[in-house]
Parts: sequence; structure tokens; C-alpha cells
Amino acid sequence: MRSERANEERLFKEKLIDSANEITLEIVQEKAVEFRRLLSYYRCALMEVETKFRVLNEEFSLKYDRNPISSIKTRIKSVPSIIEKLERRDLAFDVDNIENYINDIAGIRVTCPFPEDVYLLAESLLKQDDVMLIRKKDYIENPKENGYRSLHLIVAVPIYLAHEKRLMKVEIQLRTLAMDFWASLEHQLRYKKDFDFTEEMAKELFECAEQSAALDKRMGELRKKVMSE
Ligand code: GTP
Ligand code: MG
Repeated sequence: MRSERANEERLFKEKLIDSANEITLEIVQEKAVEFRRLLSYYRCALMEVETKFRVLNEEFSLKYDRNPISSIKTRIKSVPSIIEKLERRDLAFDVDNIENYINDIAGIRVTCPFPEDVYLLAESLLKQDDVMLIRKKDYIENPKENGYRSLHLIVAVPIYLAHEKRLMKVEIQLRTLAMDFWASLEHQLRYKKDFDFTEEMAKELFECAEQSAALDKRMGELRKKVMSE
């Protein structure tokens, strides 16, 4: 189903991003050194946080013979996405604005077998004295209207450079395999080109999210039984 309005909106957005690229090209060039350095700091912060999760996984697998982490993915926000986000908020392309107002330049997604693992990892991470919690959104306890579930944390972690220590923000998404499965498919469907989501489809997706949460619950209960044997 094609909708004129959705099409126009998308075209406008594409144009906006294109022109932003042109305008920003000069500014990016001007601030290229600074900007590249900043992105490199975010990459360092991702390394730090990824290692923290790997260490926790190692410890738990030694202690309980089980891995609480299924996968870890990291990403740095793309330059067009950074520009688009700044524009959306009426902010100039500037490293200070990026650092102060954009929380998801560095992103890490951790998937876990069971919901308990999500909370266990979050708790263990936040206990560390060099991890500062900036914001927490528990979409598992309070799922989004569309059914989306995940635990989101914005933290600040230090990176140690040759002559300075810097605090960098990292967005952490923790979710079960089932939540990740749902979120990945929902994302794919939502961003399908030239397609408008009908209310019926949204309802169907919501029900899939509920079913997948019920599955998480059942598997969690099964795990408890197995562990207590
Ligand atoms: P941005 O959306 O990043 O501007 O910030 P926010 O403050 O609204 O963040 P929120 O914590 O709500 O969501 C951040 C990220 O979580 C998104 O960029 C997605 O990766 C993921 N996310 C949030 N909601 C959904 C959803 O409904 N579906 C899917 N697939 N992912 C979602
Ligand atoms: Mg985001």
C-alpha cells in the first residue's frame, strides 16, 4: 500500500539528509580532526564496555557452567545519522553538541538466553565503581506500546589516554534472544520501503511480542526446574 503523505515525508527526509551532507561536508572537513578523534574515543569506550561484559560472561561460565551472554554487537552511529539527529534537535554540527546531547553515538547490544540474565548482567555492570548510570529505560518491565522489550542503559565510562582520562557515554541495550528476534523483524518490516503499516499489522506484531514474552517466561521456568534438579 502506497501512501502519498508517507512518500512525501520520506522524500523530504532524504532531501534533508542530502543537503545536510552538503552543508556539513565543509564543516566536517573543518572539524575533521576533532570529529575523528571524538569517534575514536567512542570506539575506545565501546571496547571498555564490551570487555566488561566479556569478563562477566567468563566469570559466570566458570562459576555456573553456563553463559549469560549469547552475543555482543557494537556499533558507532553513522555520520549521516549523527547529522540528522543534530538537525532534528536544531543543533549545530559541533563536537560539544555531539558529546552533550547525543547519547547513542556508541552503542552496544547484548543478547542473553534468559530474562534473568539481562538483569544479572545489568546489575553486575552497574555495581562497578567506574560505571556511572545516566539513564535507565526498562522496556521489559514496561514494554513499549508496540510490544518492544529491552533494557536500555545510558552509562558513562572512563577511557584512559596517554595524558588524560575521559568519560564517554555508551548506550547499552540488553535483551533476550526472543526479544532480539522480535525487534529485528519488527525493524525490518517497519522500514520496508513504500509501505505503510496498517493498524491490523501493528496489532499482529504486538501479539507476536506478547507470544515471544510468554515463551521467554516458559523457558525461564523450565530453566529453574532444570537448575533445581
Ligand atoms: P532515539 O530513538 O535513539 O533517538 O532515542 P530514545 O531516547 O527515544 O531511545 P530509546 O531508548 O527509546 O530507544 C533507543 C533505541 O532502541 C533505538 O534506536 C532502537 O535501536 C531501539 N528501539 C527502541 N524502540 C524500538 C522499537 O519499537 N522497535 C525496535 N526494533 N527497536 C527499538
Ligand atoms: Mg538511537
